[in-house]
Amino acid sequence: MTTTAIVSALLDEQKGLLDQLQHAHKEQRAGRTFWRGQWGDQDVVLVLSRIGKVAAASTATTLIEAFGVGRVVFTGVAGGLGEGVRVGDVVVAEDFVQHDMDSSPLFARYEIPLYGRSRLPCDPSLTALLQQAANAGLAVAGDHFHRERLIAEPRVHRGLVASGDRFVSSAEEAATLRQGLHGAGHIPLAVEMEGAAVAQVCLDYGVPFAAMRTISDRADDQAHVDFSAFVQQVASPYALAIVRELMKLL
Ligand code: ADE
Repeated sequence: MTTTAIVSALLDEQKGLLDQLQHAHKEQRAGRTFWRGQWGDQDVVLVLSRIGKVAAASTATTLIEAFGVGRVVFTGVAGGLGEGVRVGDVVVAEDFVQHDMDSSPLFARYEIPLYGRSRLPCDPSLTALLQQAANAGLAVAGDHFHRERLIAEPRVHRGLVASGDRFVSSAEEAATLRQGLHGAGHIPLAVEMEGAAVAQVCLDYGVPFAAMRTISDRADDQAHVDFSAFVQQVASPYALAIVRELMKLL
């Protein structure tokens, strides 16, 4: 049976998932803790990606090489960059771009050298299931937070996500990022720090990958203020609700 890796960006998020794991046992490798177990009839490995592209790439490589996972699902939070992408919405990634990749003039801005591409695709079938799960999960968890007036009525978006080794925390920085990417034809919905790295590793190995991000901030001057409380109150229950739905669909 295909083993599914669920990679979380944040400890709070992972805690909720870990509670659902049956026959959980942990394994230490590459300085990380991997949790093997069963989720219903699915074989699952849970792990924290840690922060940034290198950490995430190392985590993904270990999952594939040492744990033999056959699909990778990422859950985390992101800053909203796209128009109408609000705090409390969910973005399901169609593909990724590394916003800090720049080998110009040797290669085009954003192009990954020797890959001949700047966009890293997610697996369409797994992504379709994740989107279905996000819609179902949000119908439960999102409605609750909306009624509590923590967020506006949440929506699920699907599209491009930008990754880079920087927490984007000013409106000016977000505008510069957006402008550069738009100029090269990349219109990102959200920005985070790991997805493109995991997508690249999964592409290298031919392992299906899908990713969802709950929007925790608008990558502006308020980004750091919104972050911690949001992760605990909203993003973690979202991740749990969505992964629970996804597990029913696999
Ligand atoms: N993850 C959540 N918010 C983010 C931001 N503003 N920049 C980068 N990664 C993030």
